Amino acid sequence: MSSDVVVVNPAVRVCGRVRPPGDKSISHRYALFAAIADGSSAIRGYSTGGDCASTLRCLRALGVEIVDQGRDPARGLTVRIAGRGIRGLRAPTDILDAGNSGSTMRMLAGILAAHPFQTTLTGDDSLRRRPMGRIIAPLERMGARLASTDGRPPLTIEGTAHLVAIDFEPEVPSAQVKGAVLLAGLHAEGTTRVREPLPTRDHTERAVLAFGARVERDGPTLLIDGGQRLQAQDLTVPGDMSSAAFWMVAAAALPGSEIVIEEVGVNPTRAAILDMLRRFGARVDIEFSTEGDLGEPSGTIVVRHGTLREVTIAPEEVPGVIDELPALAALATHGGSLAVTGAQELRVKESDRISALADGLRRMGADMVEQTDGFCVRATHRLQGGEVEAHNDHRLAMAFAIAALGASGPTTIRGAGAAAVSYPEFFSVLESLRV
Ligand code: S3P
Repeated sequence: MSSDVVVVNPAVRVCGRVRPPGDKSISHRYALFAAIADGSSAIRGYSTGGDCASTLRCLRALGVEIVDQGRDPARGLTVRIAGRGIRGLRAPTDILDAGNSGSTMRMLAGILAAHPFQTTLTGDDSLRRRPMGRIIAPLERMGARLASTDGRPPLTIEGTAHLVAIDFEPEVPSAQVKGAVLLAGLHAEGTTRVREPLPTRDHTERAVLAFGARVERDGPTLLIDGGQRLQAQDLTVPGDMSSAAFWMVAAAALPGSEIVIEEVGVNPTRAAILDMLRRFGARVDIEFSTEGDLGEPSGTIVVRHGTLREVTIAPEEVPGVIDELPALAALATHGGSLAVTGAQELRVKESDRISALADGLRRMGADMVEQTDGFCVRATHRLQGGEVEAHNDHRLAMAFAIAALGASGPTTIRGAGAAAVSYPEFFSVLESLRV
């Protein structure tokens, strides 16, 4: 675990090889699917981050037997999960704590909606501020009852064994909402349809197939039949592209840098960051890739510095890089510029990422303009460094660290321990890569 205050000094360049932690989005899903599958699943490369530990903690409280089979420095955690079958979770004896993890709360709610007992899910200060109306509305239409405080956690779910299928179009593009409704749909009577306003990461769909069930796509609409069962699997989680993004950005930012990222997930719905980096002027190569484990491809990516340019990200491109925007903003403090619109979702992430990013980067000397639905960062001059606050947000802690590499003086990051939510080893890896 990183300590809570970290001082990051400037770097001349970064070089080396990294294997990022297991993908957070895929780890959550494999654990949730394994918990409701028939039989015992082994998941290798499970994320070592706090969020994925929250998913395991909640599942254990719902009667799922999970054995931690050890941690391998190269491959992450291996967990064995004894599936309880569809609708087989047990009523918990206490409130469940999802920690900092929106994915845990939202997707688990989709499963709990189909269980005929009451569960209350809560989380830390950050999670208790996040909107849950987006899952409450569809899950109530399917027949569950969900109580909250003005659409925010704690969330009390009164599930039912008789969910009904719905046709649903989320108001915001969200893979978590899609995941929650597809998981509920797996338990419902009839065919549930989810029409995506814009494409989002497809890990839920791939997990449905990996665990032996069916989900179909008809243009922007996903269809899942209720009443299917899932079969236990042995699966490997590829490295997390969103964690790797910080190293890619660091390599893109500093002249003379080259970073090789091994065994990172290259699912096309997560790989838009690679094109963004090329647009910025970085040299990005995929040296090796495989179709991977039951449909999640992985590869080796090499990123080298290039002269940084001006980049604009359009609203329809935002879902593809939603988690990478703080890292890209950090890149634009090193050179070029970044203008983003249509990214109002950033305001309801682990922090209000637009204002917290602007606050921190400006404290370091950046030229950042904040808008309701986006921001603009221009590298008009070198940052001087300073003291910033991560606001309980892992991606901000890491983004400030990458911006700090290009400053003239040191940067003190308060709340840097937040990085452990997705990348506990982040600050030690950073020190090993600097030259
Ligand atoms: C995630 C989806 C995104 C992303 C989050 C993980 C997922 O959230 O920001 O970090 O695993 O489905 P939204 O679904 O809220 O956009």
